[in-house]
Amino acid sequence: MKNTIIRQARAEDVPAINDILNYAILHTNYNLNENPRSIEDAEIWYKEHIDEDYPIVVAEKDGNVVGWASLSWFRKFSGYRTTAEVSVYVSHQYRHKGIGTMLVTELERLAGKYHILIAVITDNNTASLSLHSRCGFVPMCTFRELAYKNGEYVSVTFMTKKLN
Ligand SMILES: CC(C)(COP(=O)(O)OP(=O)(O)OC[C@H]1O[C@@H](n2cnc3c(N)ncnc32)[C@H](O)[C@@H]1OP(=O)(O)O)[C@@H](O)C(=O)NCCC(=O)NCCS
Repeated sequence: MKNTIIRQARAEDVPAINDILNYAILHTNYNLNENPRSIEDAEIWYKEHIDEDYPIVVAEKDGNVVGWASLSWFRKFSGYRTTAEVSVYVSHQYRHKGIGTMLVTELERLAGKYHILIAVITDNNTASLSLHSRCGFVPMCTFRELAYKNGEYVSVTFMTKKLN
């Protein structure tokens, strides 16, 4: 999308990042939290990523953050340190314009020390499944009815991409 800047996140981006996440929590079952994340918890999330060198990138358009993506711990066991989990969220007014693809592409550029990137995607999330396929992720398995949100069981697909 024209005039979209992809850059590393800064502390002042945290409220906008959190609003975009909370929209998905409140309006979809793509994120399996059931309650919005507080700004205090978002600030802790940001600091932990900075302290442990997990990248967070944002898409900025006309001075506003319209999307973000991050790498995070897949599981906090030391043997998983070669794997990182991808999260990517685009503000609902800006979807389907290539911003998600730009964010994941930039994350991959920053992901040099990881062997595997993994995305954990609810099975009804066509946009995220397409985005990750387009970026070279491969579906590895689907866990049927692994979670429960908004009155229904949700199946979850793990997609991975091997780097170098
Ligand atoms: C998933 C998400 C990040 C995609 O971002 P985006 O900026 O819309 O993605 P892009 O425009 O780069 O499109 C990437 C692919 O997704 C497809 N796509 C995007 N929106 C779509 C939609 N609503 N329905 C179907 N496909 C869609 C595009 O067509 C493209 O696939 P293609 O290469 O086969 O054409 C965005 O929809 C989003 O924020 N969703 C809510 C949060 C979420 O689900 N995050 C992921 C959790 S795992």
